[in-house]
Amino acid sequence: MKPEYARPGIVRHQMGMMNKFGRQQTLRPVTHVDGVALEDLVREHGSPLFVISQRTLASRYRELYEAFARRWPRVRIAWSYKTNYVGAVCRTFHKLGAWAEVVSPFEYDKAIGLGVPADRIHWNGPYKPDDAIERAVVGGSLIHIDNLDEIVRIERVAAKTGLRPRVAVRVNLAVEGVGAWSRFGLNLESGQAREAVVRLVAGDRVALEGLHCHIGTFILDPTAHGQAAAKLARFANEIRRDHGVKLSFLDLGGGFASPNTLKGQYLSGEQTAPSFARYADSICDGLAELDLPAAEVPTLVLETGRALVDEAAVLVSTVHATKRMPDGQRALVLDAGVNLLFTAFWYNHDVAPAQESRGMPEPTVLYGPLCMNIDVLRDSVALPPMAIGDRLVFRNVGAYNMTQWMQFIALRPAVVMVGSEGRSAVVRRAEKVEDLVSYEAMPEWLR
Ligand SMILES: Cc1ncc(COP(=O)(O)O)c(C=O)c1O
Repeated sequence: MKPEYARPGIVRHQMGMMNKFGRQQTLRPVTHVDGVALEDLVREHGSPLFVISQRTLASRYRELYEAFARRWPRVRIAWSYKTNYVGAVCRTFHKLGAWAEVVSPFEYDKAIGLGVPADRIHWNGPYKPDDAIERAVVGGSLIHIDNLDEIVRIERVAAKTGLRPRVAVRVNLAVEGVGAWSRFGLNLESGQAREAVVRLVAGDRVALEGLHCHIGTFILDPTAHGQAAAKLARFANEIRRDHGVKLSFLDLGGGFASPNTLKGQYLSGEQTAPSFARYADSICDGLAELDLPAAEVPTLVLETGRALVDEAAVLVSTVHATKRMPDGQRALVLDAGVNLLFTAFWYNHDVAPAQESRGMPEPTVLYGPLCMNIDVLRDSVALPPMAIGDRLVFRNVGAYNMTQWMQFIALRPAVVMVGSEGRSAVVRRAEKVEDLVSYEAMPEWLR
């Protein structure tokens, strides 16, 4: 057969070049997750496919817990549902002792449905409808107050039910080097948070049990968390001194970096993400500001999201077409796009072939399947020659993708969890057209 014509082009090869930090890593294929072959999973469950390692979830959880428990006597991890609320992921963490951290009535119900006792739920977020507040109050959940109107809403439920709601005040505060997330909670420096505490204490209808802050996400400098911890600790001292209220917990939220590489970041995320131990050192140093007898130190609550779960998942995709762009750059069209990998807007995701490949790597742009210009998973990544049907594996995709994915143009694929001893199971089945159509109704006049 006559070979197909391919337009000639001159391509600058970058792989293996030195930079001031040494030689670039060579691409090794990613073929297995905990001993289970990705190719077998894709054959059975289709492509694209999210694959989650339960072993990695558990080991990251233990690493986080131990890093803090070594430095602080009482530590609680509350799993941040919005980061990944696939039931099997949440259950894995709950079995290891995690409480739940939720930010909506939907997430609250999901946690209850997974068997989390209501009094082991921290409820954050700016939107808390009255009926959901009532369920949380009746269940004894910890409601983190976001705004002054919420105080009135919660007190109304207290009056109606005759119960004493358990609350925390969410505080936003300034730390060097991090833009303030001042839209959530009440500001510390301006005195807003202090006024809220005075108001709560004077109202005497709720039990003020804790303080909360979440300074931001993917914070690469652990001293930022240390500053926040010190400020919360000093505020707790003040509340004790002025109102005689002993807080049972201080919640530092989430915000630790995962090993992903931010767009525009020169070094790889694996080189820059601080260890849990470094965050723990900094936070526990800050908490040393607490002026309390050892027996009374509050529980340190962590709502770590992406740093716990990112590493545990990969997304396997398949090359659907190959292209040469007008500027000579090679392009691949994949069956997974930003509809599944929302985080591709912020990260240069680590991606590797799932099979041995030969030939010189060359800069390649990775497009998804959407008929949308924004559907680009990598602008330029050095990859060896790839053919139709070859697989690519995106690593560190466990956080925010299985919750922020879009049902847009395409259906969402299956999610598989790999357990111990080579077991694997579908933990979220692939969507079908019928699933989506089942939400719709046809008005009588169009039938
Ligand atoms: C209140 C709260 N807690 C925890 C998290 C988890 O954050 P991260 O994934 O940065 O650890 C978030 C995320 O934005 C949050 O808003």
